[in-house]
Amino acid sequence: MSAQSSPTQSIPSPERKPISLPHLRKMHAQGEKIAVLTAYDATFAALADACGIDALLVGDSLGMVLQGHHSTLPVTLADMVYHMQCVARGNKTAWLIGDLPYGSYHTGPDQAYRSSCALMQAGAHMVKLEGGGWTTALVEYLVTRGIPVCGHLGLTPQSVHALGGYRLQAKEDSAANKLKREATDLESAGASLCVLEMVPAVLAAELTNTLKTMATIGIGAGQQCSGQVLVLHDMLGITPMKLPRFVRNFMQDSTSVQDAIKRYVSAVKEGSFPDNAVHAY
Ligand code: KIV
Repeated sequence: MSAQSSPTQSIPSPERKPISLPHLRKMHAQGEKIAVLTAYDATFAALADACGIDALLVGDSLGMVLQGHHSTLPVTLADMVYHMQCVARGNKTAWLIGDLPYGSYHTGPDQAYRSSCALMQAGAHMVKLEGGGWTTALVEYLVTRGIPVCGHLGLTPQSVHALGGYRLQAKEDSAANKLKREATDLESAGASLCVLEMVPAVLAAELTNTLKTMATIGIGAGQQCSGQVLVLHDMLGITPMKLPRFVRNFMQDSTSVQDAIKRYVSAVKEGSFPDNAVHAY
């Protein structure tokens, strides 16, 4: 593809500076919502960046979205490194989060550190790992060594078989209390962000209000989170399967992919996505 026919050509190049961790912290402190989308390649990364997305997540959802697997479990660290390199080449200013894939951090801090280094050297600004409790020590180990970390609680897809499917988590009081403890521990360990996936909106709201330095990024967790994330292909309406109710198709009523992404960013910023009456549990 020539530079002239680049899909980002019609978009004014963003004047903004690269988004840093202090910038994200400032947004969180000032109550500005953080808009996040997944990206797996240079073209969509460039497009979303030019449309004002705050952060791009190179998620291991690529196992399902790009590779056609039924779960994220087959995704390897080499896959993640490859897609992070692609996204980093396309991106100019968005904060880049890289998922540590299944089995790449589970044996302890040393493995977590080595896997994180591979993602950081591929262009990540932050790594994300799933689970609470046992991950606290890993987060502390990574943060102490200068690697920003995003936690991921609630529905953690790498544990899909243990959880019995992709379903709402922390419904009962005991599970909700456990999740609250895990979130507080992740914050104390130094995690700056935490994805909350498919948890009741009231729980996510309570956590978001209680936590001080760790911003919550919701997906199926209601409107009150510090920010939102969606899988890009889901919000563009091109995922060939029934989508969970927390997804909104932003391509509907949009004239282009750029338009859809800009509408997503605006909807997150102004708090009109998600709509708790439609998208929350
Ligand atoms: O892998 C991924 O895309 C994710 C998001 C769904 C939060 O973890």
